[in-house]
Amino acid sequence: MEKIIEVKNLTMSYEREEVLHGVSFSLDEGEWLSIVGENGSGKTTMLKGIAGLLPLKGGSIDFGGGLTRKGIGYLPQQTAVQRDFPACVHEVVLSGCTGGARLLGMRSRSDRQRAHDAIHKLGIEHIHHRPYCDLSGGQQQRVLLARALCATEKLLLLDEPVTGLDPIVSAELYESIAKLNKTGNIAVIMVSHDIAGAVKYSDKILHIGSGVEFFGTTEEYLASDLGKRFAGK
Ligand SMILES: Nc1ncnc2c1ncn2[C@@H]1O[C@H](COP(=O)(O)OP(=O)(O)OP(=O)(O)O)[C@@H](O)[C@H]1O
Ligand SMILES: [Mg+2]
Repeated sequence: MEKIIEVKNLTMSYEREEVLHGVSFSLDEGEWLSIVGENGSGKTTMLKGIAGLLPLKGGSIDFGGGLTRKGIGYLPQQTAVQRDFPACVHEVVLSGCTGGARLLGMRSRSDRQRAHDAIHKLGIEHIHHRPYCDLSGGQQQRVLLARALCATEKLLLLDEPVTGLDPIVSAELYESIAKLNKTGNIAVIMVSHDIAGAVKYSDKILHIGSGVEFFGTTEEYLASDLGKRFAGK
């Protein structure tokens, strides 16, 4: 199995504040990693570093298995402003297509096909003409997952995909992600405060605090003192 991503000794900072120091982990093709840790520990910052939206201060991020940075799908952590985005579902999904060139502002046929496929895979055909801002939180996350899917066949970065969703809608979204992961062989890096969901679905867990507190398989995490404390039933 080839590694899809290898992060070595990663350090990131804002101006003078260092938020991540010496973080290392790797993931194989088609695996699901969950990143857990307290508010402000640097989880979102790290996803932005992987996506190429923020510079690294030190260390390295290498991709394998034919993945390039352009081929990563990213679902950002939600803010109130983004929830008011004034566009219809179809346009929001289509805006995730990062590859194809545009002619006179028109999307290529292949981009439109990708968006159509993503809408189908996430089961949101029935709302594809609705304004994004009129949807429920669960529907919006599904749309943003379809948007992220347009950009990738190999790696999805998901920043708190189920935060704010009720248990049933969360479970449905997890099942959709699991289907993309298992049948589509798309690796997943998910940041979450939902430890029960992380443990249920992930192959590996990265727990960050002031540094890496744990990195290993989900089984190893559950057997560790830290895992027992956070995921213990
Ligand atoms: N744009 C920014 N400029 C300066 N500092 C920032 C910026 N974004 C985040 N930080 C700081 O970096 C640290 C890590 O933030 P980050 O958003 O990565 O944490 P997080 O682990 O995702 O937290 P949460 O669980 O609350 O989403 C925090 O101390 C935060 O205040
Ligand atoms: Mg965050």
